[in-house]
Amino acid sequence: MSYKRTLVTCALPYANGPVHIGHLAGAYIPGDIYVRYLRMRGEDVVFICGSDEHGVPITIKAREQGVTPQDIVDKYHKVMKDAFTGLGINYDIYSRTSSAVHEKNAAEFFRKLYDQNDFVTQESEQLYDEEAKMFLTDRLIEGTCPKCGNPHAYGDQCEKCGCTLSPEELLDPKSKLSGSTPVKKKTKHWYLPLDKYEPWLRDWILEQHKEWKTNVYGQCKSWLDGGLQPRAVTRDLDWGVPVPVEGAEGKVLYVWFDAPIGYISNTKELLPQSWEKWWKDPETRLVHFIGKDNIVFHCIVFPSMLKAYGDYVLPDNVPSNEFLNLEGDKISTSRNWAVWVHEYEEQFPGQEDVLRYVLTANAPETKDNDFTWKDFQGRNNSELVAIFGNFVNRAVVLTQKYFGGKVPQNLKPQAIDAETLASVKPCREALEKYIETFHFREALKEAMNIARIGNKYISDMEPWKVAKEDMDRTASILYTCLQLCSDCAIAFEPFLPFSAEKLRGILRVGIDAGWDHRAGEGTPTVNFYKEGEGKAVHTRPASAPIPAGEIVLNWEMLGANELLPSGHELGEAVLLFQKIEDSVVEAQMARLEAIKKAREEAEAAKAAAEAAAKVEPQKPEVTFDDFGAMDIRTATVLAAERVPKTDKLLKLTIDTGIDERTIVSGIAEYYSPEDMLGKQICILANLAPRVIRGIESRGMILMAKQGDGKMRFITPEEALTNGAQIG
Ligand code: MF3
Ligand code: ZN
Repeated sequence: MSYKRTLVTCALPYANGPVHIGHLAGAYIPGDIYVRYLRMRGEDVVFICGSDEHGVPITIKAREQGVTPQDIVDKYHKVMKDAFTGLGINYDIYSRTSSAVHEKNAAEFFRKLYDQNDFVTQESEQLYDEEAKMFLTDRLIEGTCPKCGNPHAYGDQCEKCGCTLSPEELLDPKSKLSGSTPVKKKTKHWYLPLDKYEPWLRDWILEQHKEWKTNVYGQCKSWLDGGLQPRAVTRDLDWGVPVPVEGAEGKVLYVWFDAPIGYISNTKELLPQSWEKWWKDPETRLVHFIGKDNIVFHCIVFPSMLKAYGDYVLPDNVPSNEFLNLEGDKISTSRNWAVWVHEYEEQFPGQEDVLRYVLTANAPETKDNDFTWKDFQGRNNSELVAIFGNFVNRAVVLTQKYFGGKVPQNLKPQAIDAETLASVKPCREALEKYIETFHFREALKEAMNIARIGNKYISDMEPWKVAKEDMDRTASILYTCLQLCSDCAIAFEPFLPFSAEKLRGILRVGIDAGWDHRAGEGTPTVNFYKEGEGKAVHTRPASAPIPAGEIVLNWEMLGANELLPSGHELGEAVLLFQKIEDSVVEAQMARLEAIKKAREEAEAAKAAAEAAAKVEPQKPEVTFDDFGAMDIRTATVLAAERVPKTDKLLKLTIDTGIDERTIVSGIAEYYSPEDMLGKQICILANLAPRVIRGIESRGMILMAKQGDGKMRFITPEEALTNGAQIG
């Protein structure tokens, strides 16, 4: 089916932490590349994102920090919005699910399904915290895992052994809010009967969308084969969109019900008059970019909601990547194991494209992949600097040197020049095919191949040598090189927009990068390089003609022969990329090492504290007489030595106040002989003597032993006479 416009969304990130490189690689960079590409091809695209500001984790974080959920989302909304802009990811709108437009829109969506009787209701018993006066979601319940004994398992999962749980299975469940033991209480919720949509979903996905990426298709198939159940779309919570029906006081829409509606709300906020055509006209193509943990919601739940509502278009494709790991470990916001985008931008100013490049070249498209700082450095130094940057720099510097910075005339062409220029065409075709099928890693390789072609050509032709005897031939070589530079300025625009812009500044050309909708219902504007300003500006209305004398590239010119006419004056030769030194990546690796070490130490300390806190159960009762029979008294250690050939035993000479005697004690693991010397301790004096290792031991030193196994002796509060009775 043909289409007139494309609506592209990127998953609305949770506003409970900043964006990290895993998010970027999973959804945001691919989405941006795709949008930039379509726009260059002249397509009409709206690009939607925003913060997902509801859900339990945000309320937990707020409680932990002693602030309101609104404080949390305000903070992270700004951090995320700025981080995206800093990386050149320019949504037409980046709004938030706490916006007034969204609250109204999400409530209206629910209400329509409710009025149509699309929901089923169900009463169930859920755990309730009587102190906090709140129903507890699974994550708010902590207890001991019945499978592995981990004392900090959640109500839905044990992170230690990975098993899935339900709150009832936890041993000794406790509310994370108040620490009290939860009780069961009845509550009513609204459910979307996914089972009802199952036959339709099977046909729509499994038959009609066989072209979806295999990881996406495969996950859908396994969900469908497992059978779908009704899903609750409301929650007992006070943070979210209130359920807009009577009898639903204290309930809000489930975050996964309201968030995808946010795509619609944000479009509505951007284009209050024309949003409907983007969502309801069958000639709109809807594409969702997401990470793999979002697949079921975007392929099964949200389409069922749209289908139930009626008149909405359904996603045409849902490109999703797998996960990116960091230095071999799973990225985790809560464990602070991540490279945060806003921090990267602070630490690597002007190197935004390096991150875009590495995350695309190494994208987890078909399987989980690993980000390492060594790979980051390697790709920058041996690909961006050594190939792309090196080629452009040599071509431009030599043109300055021999031809006063003007594109020379093609005075002495050879077959190799035309062949080289012609070899760009297949790269372009492959690049297009890859982007259109969401294979961005391969697409980037093709753009890089164009730079490689240029770099090889200039190395093979050696214009710096030819210039010694044949200036006409030198002119043709550099002429050819500069045409290849312009090809790069087009081909890299979707992937490395900052460097492509820099390159166009060097070449003094503009680019028609298509139009965007950041002006809302206003006139779309074109990303256009204005001569003399050295940077792209959004000034020219899409419909306006190109000003006379300006060279404006566009996608259709990629691989065409002569983009830069002879005589055209170049700008200054600036370096496109900077080498990254060892010390820079070593500092990043050291930061991660320190985080890992601190975490391991904290975990070890926690485990030790837990073990220490373990208290033995009480022993069977004794009589008063049993106790009275024991002669316990104070004594002082006069001499101490190790018992030869043992690790545990000390031989102690003790002043008991009645006599001096020997006691052999198993404390050498914890105390050295010097530690014991002169110490006042407590002993059981009338214990029957025993011979240990040939030494007669008369009595026992009283020691306290806690869960960590360590023994500590008991010492009186102040020095007493030896032989003082204890009882
Ligand atoms: N907040 C979710 C996440 O970060 C994504 C929500 S996408 C939307 O995993 F569909 F709900 F918008
Ligand atoms: Zn477990």
